Amino acid sequence: MSSIAVIGGGKIGEALVSGLIANGVDPKDINVTNRNSERGHYLKETYGVVPFTDNVSAVDEVSVVFVCVKPKDVVKVVGEIAEAIDNNTATTVVSMAAGISNAVIEEVLTAGAPVVRVMPNTPMLVGKGMSVVAPGRFVGEEQLKEVVELLEAVGAVRVLTESDMDAVTALSGSSPAYIFLIAETMIDAGVHLGLPRDVAKDLAINSIYGAGAMMQETGEEPSQLRANVSSPAGTTIAAIRELEESGLRGAFYRATKACADRSAELGK
Ligand SMILES: NC(=O)c1ccc[n+]([C@@H]2O[C@H](COP(=O)([O-])OP(=O)(O)OC[C@H]3O[C@@H](n4cnc5c(N)ncnc54)[C@H](OP(=O)(O)O)[C@@H]3O)[C@@H](O)[C@H]2O)c1
Repeated sequence: MSSIAVIGGGKIGEALVSGLIANGVDPKDINVTNRNSERGHYLKETYGVVPFTDNVSAVDEVSVVFVCVKPKDVVKVVGEIAEAIDNNTATTVVSMAAGISNAVIEEVLTAGAPVVRVMPNTPMLVGKGMSVVAPGRFVGEEQLKEVVELLEAVGAVRVLTESDMDAVTALSGSSPAYIFLIAETMIDAGVHLGLPRDVAKDLAINSIYGAGAMMQETGEEPSQLRANVSSPAGTTIAAIRELEESGLRGAFYRATKACADRSAELGK
């Protein structure tokens, strides 16, 4: 079993830790760092992981280091642990930060260090994440497999190339927010039609959840599933026509393009 360091036990770090433990990783094999020792104390009490406030000690002899700090802190944190990592070239450094390329991290480490970039998303918090993994230049097959298997503890995983990462940010990294916005809008629309807010919320969330499960479990094309519930001259097709005429498709093309463009800009 891998020994792991999670640098930055915040939202994504905690989600990862909780999924790894739920999938059988021994909490004693997980070192977690935070500058604030209270947060470390909470993670130790909740999960039984080993808390650190010193990043260098935390990466000693681990096989995978997940860097889960904010993008602006990544280079500084990797710089701190670089020497310790250099002493153990078997360690893979995995960055979860939006917009930071493998090359930027490889540059901070000694030449040849295995680096992997991951774009996770927040459903990881409930074990339903979508993580896209882009291996750096020096990652071996076994090292990549180990990272993929660890991430599978918190949801689905796909390996793509780094040049896909801006589109990935638009399709999975940021997209839970699009669905939250749709849910919010449906709830207000239900209130407008006279339903109490709590009822509208229950109906909207369960319908989104159920539709997601249907797409996942039946393997049918979304277009087919929609056609299946659109009776001739019926209620659903009346709603679909309004959504189409309101420019839903165009809005998604433009929104995802704006997201991917912004991701590219942040990566410069
Ligand atoms: N949340 C998302 O939706 C999402 C989606 C995709 C990707 N990501 C990526 O995931 C990463 C983490 O995001 P997050 O939402 O989990 O952020 P977060 O909740 O702010 O967590 C960051 C954690 O890092 C710790 N930290 C900061 N500097 C540190 C240092 N020098 N050494 C050790 N620990 C340090 C912070 O705790 P202390 O202040 O106590 O040190 C905090 O617990 C980001 O790079 C983000 O781009 C997030």
